[in-house]
Amino acid sequence: MKLVIATRNPHKLKEIQAIFDFQGLEIYSSFDFPEIPNVVEDGDTLEANAVKKAVELCKATGLPALADDSGLEVEALGGRPGVYSARWSGEGCTYADNNAKLLRKLEGKTNRCAQFRTVMALARPDEQPQTVEGSVHGVIIEELRGDQGFGYDPLFMPDGYSRTFAELPAEVKNRISHRARALDAAANVWNDFFQGRK
Ligand code: IMP
Repeated sequence: MKLVIATRNPHKLKEIQAIFDFQGLEIYSSFDFPEIPNVVEDGDTLEANAVKKAVELCKATGLPALADDSGLEVEALGGRPGVYSARWSGEGCTYADNNAKLLRKLEGKTNRCAQFRTVMALARPDEQPQTVEGSVHGVIIEELRGDQGFGYDPLFMPDGYSRTFAELPAEVKNRISHRARALDAAANVWNDFFQGRK
């Protein structure tokens, strides 16, 4: 059985493969299909983008496709950047630009609560796509700390920890992250497909 993971983000792919034991499945990713164009992530929810990515890749390859769309939802910003997390500072922006914007937006704010949320979609040929989700709560600290992970990791300290996602060992992030929790749900809900793998 084959499965293609819909991402061209090497960090994300590495995390998904570190978290989940795909034993028995032949795993591919968007990197293996360079001729297939990137999906335009123009949905206004994480769900819409995850489903779009999974369905388009499933159609283009004829293989079952797994896609995730994730975002950082900050309470004091009404849930922003959320679905706009990747390009929050504009087209072509860097992780550093987005982190700087987040610090600016939260200047003087006492409520620093936030969550990372992942919606994962599985699209199989001739079936309706399905979604599951996972989230992790934490706070946005006041300066960047750590150099592991990616994206907003240096500013996000998960509840119950005194280190950011960028300071924690990858094994810890991969145990408690939004992506890990979504994959947990995936293993439970789609156990016909994953056959209880974890
Ligand atoms: P994507 O659309 O799912 O690739 O994720 C959108 C954006 O959310 C990424 O570009 C990152 O800025 C942010 N993001 C998603 N997951 C993580 C994570 O695990 N750590 C830090 N930032 C993340």
